[in-house]
Order: sequence, then structure tokens, then C-alpha cells
Amino acid sequence: MYTPATTRYDSPGFYRRCGRSGVKLPLISLGLWHNFGAKDSYDNARAIACRAFDLGITHFDLANNYGPPDGSAEETFGRILRDDLGKWRDELIITTKAGYYMWPGPYGEWGSRKYLLSSLDQSLKRMGLDYVDIFYSHRPDPDTPLEETMGALAHAVRSGKALYVGLSNYQPADTVRAAKLLRELGTPCLIHQPRYSMFDRWVEPQLLATLEREGIGCTVFSPLAKGLLTDRYFKGVPADSRAGHDTRFLRPADITDAVLARTKKLNDLAQSRGQTLAQMALAWVLRHSAVTSALIGASRVSQVDDCVGATRNLFFSSSQLAEIESILSK
Ligand SMILES: NC(=O)c1ccc[n+]([C@@H]2O[C@H](COP(=O)([O-])OP(=O)(O)OC[C@H]3O[C@@H](n4cnc5c(N)ncnc54)[C@H](OP(=O)(O)O)[C@@H]3O)[C@@H](O)[C@H]2O)c1
Repeated sequence: MYTPATTRYDSPGFYRRCGRSGVKLPLISLGLWHNFGAKDSYDNARAIACRAFDLGITHFDLANNYGPPDGSAEETFGRILRDDLGKWRDELIITTKAGYYMWPGPYGEWGSRKYLLSSLDQSLKRMGLDYVDIFYSHRPDPDTPLEETMGALAHAVRSGKALYVGLSNYQPADTVRAAKLLRELGTPCLIHQPRYSMFDRWVEPQLLATLEREGIGCTVFSPLAKGLLTDRYFKGVPADSRAGHDTRFLRPADITDAVLARTKKLNDLAQSRGQTLAQMALAWVLRHSAVTSALIGASRVSQVDDCVGATRNLFFSSSQLAEIESILSK
């Protein structure tokens, strides 16, 4: 029988306000995209989730299609809730999303009201929940009126199946339009979820400033570039790594000499800061006041410990920032 650590809220600086809302999120959040599918070890998944909660991670990020197979990460998380964490439901922010392909036919992906609301019902069933804390539109749909997609999100809140709504992968202009529609519907946009890491900086020119202006929080996904911004691949491709056993989104070919040369230099700098490379990469995304939380994945408990350790040093001197720019530019 799991009992959470009584020390889990002992680091008050570990929570940041999510935009101009009443909700605070942990600096490090846990995503269940990988390692929580039907073929993954349940005991390992359960240990990762429970350790995360013990360390003050209250925010667990899911989507309808996480697995594989699609939906199985929600089933796994539902089991973890039943077995362990569910007793602390009021201490948890549980999210899900709909947008990518989920079932065949014209209603199984993108942004229609039909798809979003059916998908949310399915997600709630898989997790054994009455409501999620945040329901996201997972990607913009160029062919569905934004009014319809935002109307579906607002309906999810009005019907009590979600407390808040969010956007993921929306460009700045669409974010502003969507935020306006949601405000008019009485359901302000709580959060945006874009990809952001040292290796993918598309949010920097506009999106982060847009979110601050709109009062929308931001949880950034793949802050470790799916594992590239860690020491995972310094000695080849381990069989138990993402690139070693699940090549859907990260292939051994992505681990090029140029990537390794850059990450090894970044690793030297991280060590001079008293951090692992993963910790420095997380501190680096969290240096922006617009970023509420860094949304990590983990394949083992020790990675959760390491990542949370990042928050012990979020400060960068201007010369360290300049050195990072110089390494990234080569
Ligand atoms: N909204 C969207 O469209 C979208 C898209 C992608 C992801 N997401 C969300 O973002 C979450 C995180 O994405 P991600 O898994 O790509 O994030 P990530 O944090 O960039 O990568 C996680 C991987 O990095 C490695 N790792 C983590 N901590 C480590 C450490 N301390 N030392 C060494 N290696 C470490 C592990 O790789 P190994 O498995 O090799 O050990 C882990 O699986 C997802 O679970 C999902 O919730 C959202």
C-alpha cells in the first residue's frame, strides 16, 4: 500500500503560477507519452509515477493516443490511480488531449466537436475519472472553424468533464484568436503546451511573449529533446534507451556526431555548474518567466530524481548563457 512522502511539499519554490490563473504547477511535470504503454512494465510505470508524486510533482500529462497501443497509457494511469494515487486525486492535476489520429473514419482525429467530446468521454473511462483537470486541443485543425474547436473545449468545462482547457502546438496568431474565443465563452485558456528545448527554439521569437501578454501559462514538452540533451547516448545507443527500442520518434540516425559534439560541450558546462546535462537543459527552459513547467518523460525512477534536482540551480550567469549560445550556434 503506497503512502506518499510527507516531505512532498517541502520545497515551496517548486511551484509556479500558471499564467494569470489560480493554479500553480510544479517546475517539473511528468508526461506519460512513453514508458506507460501496455507493453511497458507496470511496476516500473507505477514506481515512476509514485516517486514523482513523492517529489512534489502534482502534474501528470496524458493524451488519448499515448501508448502504444493508443489509449493504453491512460489505462495504465487509471490502474495507478486505482492502486495508489487516486486517494490523493485533489492533489493532482491530470490532463488529457485530443487532436491526433485515434480511431478510423471521419470523426477520429483533428478538431471537430464530435471528435473532441467523444474522445474526452473515452479518456475519462480509460482513467476511471469523472473529470480531468485540463483538456487540450492537441493540435490546430486547419479545416475546422476555430469557433467549433474552442466551443467543444468550453463545453467540456461546462459539462463538468474538465476544469480548465489548453492548447498544444498552436502558432502565436492562432493562440491569440483561440484565447479570445475562449474568453468570450467564459472559459479562459489556462495553458499552452509547445515543444521547447535548446535544440528547438521556435517558441522564442513570438510565442512566449504572446503567452505572457495573454496571461496563459506554458508547459514545455520534450525539454530534453527526447533524451538527446542528456548523457544517455555518450557511449553509443543503449538497448533500453528510446532510440534503442522505440524508434517511432527518435532513431539512432538522429544521434549524429554533430549532436554528440554539441551535447558533450554542454555537458562540460553543466558539470562546471554542478549539474548533469539533463538538469542544465531543464534549468535553461525554466529561465523564462513565461515557462511555468518543464514536462519531462522518464524511463526509470532515477531520471525523475535527477530532473527534479535541476530546480536546485536555476540561475545562469550572462557568460554561461553566452557560452550556451556559442555551443548551439556551431
Ligand atoms: N503536446 C504534444 O504534442 C507533445 C508531444 C510530445 C510530448 N509531449 C509531452 O511531453 C512529455 C515529455 O516528452 P519527452 O518524453 O519527449 O521529454 P524529454 O524529457 O525531452 O525526454 C524524455 C527522455 O529523456 C531521457 N531522460 C529523462 N531524464 C533523464 C535524465 N535525468 N538523465 C538521462 N536521460 C533522461 C529518457 O530517455 P530514455 O527513455 O532513453 O531513458 C526519457 O524517456 C511527454 O510524456 C508528453 O506528456 C507532448
